[in-house]
Amino acid sequence: MPEARLPAICPATLDDGPAMAALDAQFALNPWTTTNLARYCEHDRFHALVSRQDGELRGFLLYSRLVDEASLDNVVVGREHQGLGLGSRLLLAALSRMAAEGLSRCVLEVRESNLSAKMLYQKNGFTVDGVRQGYYVTEKGRENALLMSRRL
Ligand SMILES: CC(C)(COP(=O)(O)OP(=O)(O)OC[C@H]1O[C@@H](n2cnc3c(N)ncnc32)[C@H](O)[C@@H]1OP(=O)(O)O)[C@@H](O)C(=O)NCCC(=O)NCCS
Repeated sequence: MPEARLPAICPATLDDGPAMAALDAQFALNPWTTTNLARYCEHDRFHALVSRQDGELRGFLLYSRLVDEASLDNVVVGREHQGLGLGSRLLLAALSRMAAEGLSRCVLEVRESNLSAKMLYQKNGFTVDGVRQGYYVTEKGRENALLMSRRL
């Protein structure tokens, strides 16, 4: 039986900005602006990876370089495509690019209540280094950020 075709993962272009912003706005309380996202499409210190299929943006990931470390700044998969491994594929593609760039460690922040993101990171080798109390604004007040990292 033929294998299902997996959408390729490739660097974003400026044309991806509006679709990335629209996808992010489905989840984020403070969505990324197209201006901020455009910076990640220039692929200098800031990088964006996207997965598109049938003309549709299914997911994207943002990371940036901080001296010899990488900061994983966002990863989003469209609701109807979640739970199918795309988040993991985006993450593994980014980690492999970070390692190829000679970076030694990847760090990130995640909302304490974001179970799916925490599982995605833990399954891919991230561990919790600390907690930033009340870091995120929520509809009800504030929420802690977990600081996570893994070696590359
Ligand atoms: C976090 C996110 C990117 C995961 O993408 P995804 O494509 O669903 O991830 P995967 O299918 O690769 O799943 C990876 C692991 O995450 C966990 N996971 C995924 N969806 C989950 C859910 N709804 N509940 C609990 N765990 C979940 C599972 O452990 C899964 O591994 P498994 O399938 O081997 O059990 C996606 O849920 C998303 O876009 N969320 C909204 C945006 C967001 O919160 N981004 C994180 C910012 S820090």
